[in-house]
Formats: sequence, C-alpha cells, structure tokens
Amino acid sequence: MEPKHNGPILVTGAAGDLGGIGRNLTAMLLDKGHKVRALVRREDERSEALRRLGAEVVQGDLTDLGSMHRATEGCARIYFGMSVSPAYLEATVNTAAVARHHGVQAFVNMSQMTVTSMSITKTTDSPQHKLHWLAEQALAWSGLPVVTVRPTVFLEGFFLRLAAAGVRERNELALPLGNGKTSPISAVDVARAVSVILDDPAPHIGQIYNLTGFESADLDHYARVFSEVLGRTIRYRSVPLAEWTDGLRVAGVPTHVINHLSVMGDLHAQGRYDRMTDDLLRLTGRTATTARDFVKLHAAEFGRGVNA
Ligand SMILES: NC(=O)c1ccc[n+]([C@@H]2O[C@H](COP(=O)([O-])OP(=O)(O)OC[C@H]3O[C@@H](n4cnc5c(N)ncnc54)[C@H](OP(=O)(O)O)[C@@H]3O)[C@@H](O)[C@H]2O)c1
Repeated sequence: MEPKHNGPILVTGAAGDLGGIGRNLTAMLLDKGHKVRALVRREDERSEALRRLGAEVVQGDLTDLGSMHRATEGCARIYFGMSVSPAYLEATVNTAAVARHHGVQAFVNMSQMTVTSMSITKTTDSPQHKLHWLAEQALAWSGLPVVTVRPTVFLEGFFLRLAAAGVRERNELALPLGNGKTSPISAVDVARAVSVILDDPAPHIGQIYNLTGFESADLDHYARVFSEVLGRTIRYRSVPLAEWTDGLRVAGVPTHVINHLSVMGDLHAQGRYDRMTDDLLRLTGRTATTARDFVKLHAAEFGRGVNA
C-alpha cells in the first residue's frame, strides 16, 4: 500500500446530502493525515466547504469517462458511493473501469445490507437493490481489490429527513414501517468504518462488512426514545404505504427513489430489517450511535426543548 500523503484518496459523492457519507468521510480522512480528492457533481457552497476542510475538490460526473480519469489519476485508494439513482450501475462500472486502468489498490464500494439476502435466484422489488446487487457482481468480476460495505437503513434518512416534520409539527413519528424491528445506523458511523478501511486497506480487501445500528427495536420503542429526549409525548403512527408514497410524490421525490423507499417500508413491516452484527464494533472499536444520542444531536430539527 502507498504510505500516507503519497497520493490523495478519492472520495466520490463527497458533497453529500443530509447525513451524507462522503463529506463525513472526507473530514475523517483529512483528520487522519491523508490527502483527499473529493469528487462533487457541481460547484456550490458544499464544494467550498470541502475546500475549507482541506480537500482537493474535483467536479465531475461518475458516469463520464473524462471526469473519472481526472478524478482517479494519482489515487491508489477510492471510496465509491453516490445518491440512490437509476444511473447507479453505469456509474459503478464506469468508475471501476477507470480504476482498473489506473491500477487502483483499494476500491471501497458502498452497498446495502439487503444485498446480503439476494442471490442469482432471489431479488427484491426495489430497483436500487437490484442495481446494488448487479454492481457488486460486476465489481467481483472486475478483479479490482474491492472492500464491500453494506449498511442497514440510515438514521439520517427515515428518522430525520423523512420524519422530522411529523415529529416537529404533530408529535408523531409517522413512517410506513409497520410493527417490524429495525436497527438504524448513523451515516457518520458508516463513514467512520470506511475511514478505518481506507486508512489501511490491505487487511480488508475482499471482505464484506454488514453494518447495523446500536439496537434492533420496533418503532414504538424509538417513539419512546424521542419522547424521553424531547420531553413531550411522541407517538409512532404506521402510515399506510400508499398514503406515504403519495406524499413523497407531491414533494417531488423521483420515482426511482420512491419505488426503493416503498420496498424498504414493505421489508421493514415483514421484519427483514431486524438484524444485528458486530462488524462496526470490530472495525472501529466503537459502538454505534444510539437513537437517544441521535435525537439529542438533532433536537432542534425535531422541535422544542430537550430533556438532557
Ligand atoms: N440512506 C440509507 O438509508 C442507506 C442505507 C444503506 C445504504 N445506503 C447507500 O448509501 C449510498 C448513499 O450514500 P450517501 O447518503 O452518502 O449519498 P448522498 O449523500 O445521497 O449522495 C452523495 C452524492 O452523490 C452525488 N451524485 C449523484 N449522482 C452523481 C453522478 N452521476 N456523478 C457525481 N456525483 C453524483 C450527489 O450529488 P448532488 O448532491 O450534487 O446531486 C450527492 O451529493 C448509496 O449507495 C445508498 O444505497 C443508504
């Protein structure tokens, strides 16, 4: 492996949405003393923030060959991740083809935990799950030195982005997750796991890491955590899937993303997200962020006072 500081580590999807892996990972790798080349799709205040952190920012598209040559040249280690998109497979294979050309020594691929239960005869109805499964297949055929990271659902997605308004405005945790248990993980913990891998990739090449949160519990449990931390009663309401997806459509969420989220809702209700591993602890030496700490951290977004 290249020693630290010899060449930058390429972090894709670095601008990141709320709770994005890429920008947390960029900060963590810089903290560890690495140079980071951060790939962003467009120049905006997020790319400026990455520059202020100390990253070299490259603007480009993951599906574009020229962009990926510019981004990859001189990098021995790559983190590949991007937002849920119909172009996911094309972007993965484009990035992998260029990585092979440049002789990359470690390629960390962000996937999803549901892929663990998929196979050549078993899929789900989510278009994104299928693209992740195919992307993993293609990377396995590529001969690249791949490390696969498969997290479960993120706290920042369902519990913050998709539920904060309901908690703030109606004191309800309104999600289409039925009575199933789930072990949501923070994207910050996922970024930390990836930063450990990229700091010293050699022992991880060929490994698959399934990352879960602190505990697996049903939504009534999480609603109680919200109530205790925020100091007012928050109730879980299991929203019918059709009502929930109608709301997402009105909010302008792309169809590919809605189709993916709605399958996640269904699988939750079936208990398919009731899973726990110790991979995060083994990788980072730290337990996952608890729901309690997560709600405390984001209390302002959930509204009103906090019971410390
Ligand atoms: N959210 C969850 O619950 C969950 C659970 C398990 C696994 N995952 C996986 O985690 C990954 C998402 O990670 P994340 O939350 O860190 O991503 P994210 O913040 O949603 O997106 C990362 C970035 O990808 C960029 N991007 C999208 N298409 C691009 C393209 N063609 N070229 C260049 N950049 C592009 C976006 O740029 P713009 O912002 O400019 O559009 C965005 O900033 C996915 O693989 C997802 O399946 C998510």
